[in-house]
Amino acid sequence: SNFTDYQAESATISQGVVESNHAGFTGSGFVNYDNVTGSSVEFAVSAAAAGTQSLTFRFANGTTTDRPMTIAVNGTAVATARSFPGTGAWTTWQEISVNAPLNAGGNTVRATATTDNGGPNLDRLRV
Ligand code: GCU
Ligand code: CA
Ligand code: CA
Repeated sequence: SNFTDYQAESATISQGVVESNHAGFTGSGFVNYDNVTGSSVEFAVSAAAAGTQSLTFRFANGTTTDRPMTIAVNGTAVATARSFPGTGAWTTWQEISVNAPLNAGGNTVRATATTDNGGPNLDRLRV
């Protein structure tokens, strides 16, 4: 089926900033998470019908240290401390996917850093 892109720079950001200084992002930039536990980005995701969907996050992590994040849908964790490993450079973007149940209509999808390193740089969510 089709997909929809939700840009991180247009989402609700808690403890992070929109930047565009590392090439290769889509849209107009990415979110640079503050390097603290609990920094987060929340997307408002619409689904035509209830059911399991693949949530694909595009990110870069220019360090060699994992930047795990918990993924929550409508307030319920669907992946706890999901790995967002090093990608080799801040300009090297990769995707990871998580399957999760969505409701028909509006949903929230939140990605929250679980370590003091914060999250990776986050480009978008594709659903
Ligand atoms: C660098 C990089 C940022 C990144 C940060 C980090 O400052 O330029 O884009 O977010 O490292 O380690 O989180
Ligand atoms: Ca950061
Ligand atoms: Ca983007």
